[in-house]
Amino acid sequence: MRSINKFPIALAVLLLIFASTFAVSAQVKMAKENFGKTPDGQQVELFTLTNKNGMEARIMDYGGIVVSLKVPDRTGKLDDVVLGLNTLDDYLKGHPYFGALIGRYGNRIAKGRFTLNGVEYKLAVNNGENHLHGGIKGFDKQVWNAKFVKTAKGEVSLVLTYLSKDGEEGYPGNLNVTVVYTLTNNNELKIDYTATTDKDTVINLTHHSYFNLKGEGNGDILDHQLTIDANRFTPTDAGSIPTGELKSVMGGPFDFTKPTGIGARINQPDQQLQFGKGYDHNFVLNGRMGTVHLAATVFEPTTGRVMEVLTTEPGIQFYTGNFLDGTLTGKSGKVYQQRYGFCLETQHFPDSPNQPKFPTTTLRKGKTMNSTTIYRFSTRK
Ligand code: BGC
Repeated sequence: MRSINKFPIALAVLLLIFASTFAVSAQVKMAKENFGKTPDGQQVELFTLTNKNGMEARIMDYGGIVVSLKVPDRTGKLDDVVLGLNTLDDYLKGHPYFGALIGRYGNRIAKGRFTLNGVEYKLAVNNGENHLHGGIKGFDKQVWNAKFVKTAKGEVSLVLTYLSKDGEEGYPGNLNVTVVYTLTNNNELKIDYTATTDKDTVINLTHHSYFNLKGEGNGDILDHQLTIDANRFTPTDAGSIPTGELKSVMGGPFDFTKPTGIGARINQPDQQLQFGKGYDHNFVLNGRMGTVHLAATVFEPTTGRVMEVLTTEPGIQFYTGNFLDGTLTGKSGKVYQQRYGFCLETQHFPDSPNQPKFPTTTLRKGKTMNSTTIYRFSTRK
């Protein structure tokens, strides 16, 4: 009699263990849908990654663009915290690099020229007389090869690869690039970059999401509290090209070493702020290049959302959406006005190929470039 009774109990326990294991892994999801075609007929897919907490990232293979990123607030409510557009056609019509992967070179190269191994290379010029974010058709406008991978930890990654051919936008070398987006169960969007080349070249990859921790379209970002672990920044000329100086931030409007409202000093009569029409500057990170270190923390008081940015890179471009001007309407139908989003683009410094004192962006033939950046989300009171 006794032994007969034990069987259903053991079965129930086993079922319970199975169900709870299944429930956890069942919440980690990946899905893929058709997102349209480029004018030259390439199919574009939209990939959805969901972690076990319900945080969700939607990324397309066109430009590796993060189209949406849903993150909980302090009550657990999910909001989409990145600016973006509704359809592929909207992206194709033109936008200021919303959510995109940037390459081969994040930010500017003066006059679109640099010399390497005694040879002068002329790049596509697309920002006044300068080269910006990889040129006319940068990585943000290419269709990448994409596939889902489940990591050893049971998390989801989207692996994107792209071969940038020798001479593309003026750069030397066939460059093989891999970018892995991983949505961790610790509410992080992790980005791992790898690149190799068959000829010496220069490279500086970054990611260009515009964040608004209140939710996209929900007003400006001036009341977000920002900390950047940087004692110095790289001041620029009127065309946003670094002068070469590493200037102390102490005591001025670029001092974010303690949590400070983004808008607290943005309208001060400071020449650098005037050149950028607000913040649009590279900060020299205190953390050690090559190891993952905390670069910046952003806190939004009304929702309690916190975003930390960690990176192996030596710099971070802090850009306050100064050129958003109300001409683009976002995903939920709200108009994006000036300063409705901010970017924290981890990077090597702008114009490094022409600045021998900056950390080098040269990638030698046969060597591998590795870089990691993590956008980590949490909440607090
Ligand atoms: C640059 C800005 C530029 C923006 C793109 C930022 O990374 O620093 O100058 O306007 O990207 O729209």
